[in-house]
Amino acid sequence: MLPIYDVIQIEDFIDEKSGRTKPWVVFANTPEGLKTYVVKLFTTAQINSFCLNNEVICNFLATEFELPVPKCVLLNIPEEITMNLEPEHQQQYYNADPRPKFATELISDVNSAILGLPKSIYKNRIEIDTTYGFDNLIRNYDRGQIKTNLLLSAESAYLIDHELAFNPKYIADINFNSFYIEDNFSKYHLFYSYLKQSTFKSKSSYFEEFEFFLNSLNVNKLNEYFHFLYNEGFPNNQSEIMAWLAQVKQNIRKFVELLRISIQ
Ligand SMILES: Nc1ncnc2c1ncn2[C@@H]1O[C@H](COP(=O)(O)OP(=O)(O)O)[C@@H](O)[C@H]1O
Ligand SMILES: [Mg+2]
Repeated sequence: MLPIYDVIQIEDFIDEKSGRTKPWVVFANTPEGLKTYVVKLFTTAQINSFCLNNEVICNFLATEFELPVPKCVLLNIPEEITMNLEPEHQQQYYNADPRPKFATELISDVNSAILGLPKSIYKNRIEIDTTYGFDNLIRNYDRGQIKTNLLLSAESAYLIDHELAFNPKYIADINFNSFYIEDNFSKYHLFYSYLKQSTFKSKSSYFEEFEFFLNSLNVNKLNEYFHFLYNEGFPNNQSEIMAWLAQVKQNIRKFVELLRISIQ
């Protein structure tokens, strides 16, 4: 399961204008030596709306679709090492939920993706149709055209920031007979315009890989993650997520068809 490490030093503060959580860059002791992580200081309200669960579950789910993500862990930040911080950051520490915090391994030499880059920049680094399908599966409307939550390196692209996925509003009481893909999961997605403007020929093979991975997905693998999170004292949204995923699995053809229609 996810390892839990101790932070030994706070190195930097990420203060993006559009960001919600203002994560910290920290060093933590691991069995492989010192590693650098980006750690999110969620408030208890955010934890109670399953932000941490969603980060963990989606980080794992992405790997089932062979989409690159930074490795995640949980980190404890001991109070002693926050004593010399600026008041603003001390305040952030005290406002944060006291349980272990979600962190991903820092990927160096990356830039946040921006809209308007040539399609090839993306296509050479990540499967854009599979990413779009994945975001629809996890009901993530936060890989948009301004906040892209996609990090570009020289060779790859990494998905981050899944705290807003699986919103109960979008996964509970869904009737697949009348289900359709809303604009916030289509038109406003980072890759929408690239997919929509593709040739008829490219479009016809889009989502084949996504469908293959969705068919192969064994949702029961998630149970041990939910169990782990529950044991660590986090609130539980297992039944809602499992019910949603089971529903999609029962309607794979329809789900994929709707993805295709959404970019027509
Ligand atoms: N693993 C990582 N490696 C490098 N930079 C990261 C990593 N995780 C997050 N970041 C940087 O931190 C920013 C905020 O992280 P994110 O998870 O998107 O939090 P928020 O919920 O505040 O948007 C990202 O836009 C990115 O610039
Ligand atoms: Mg973000």
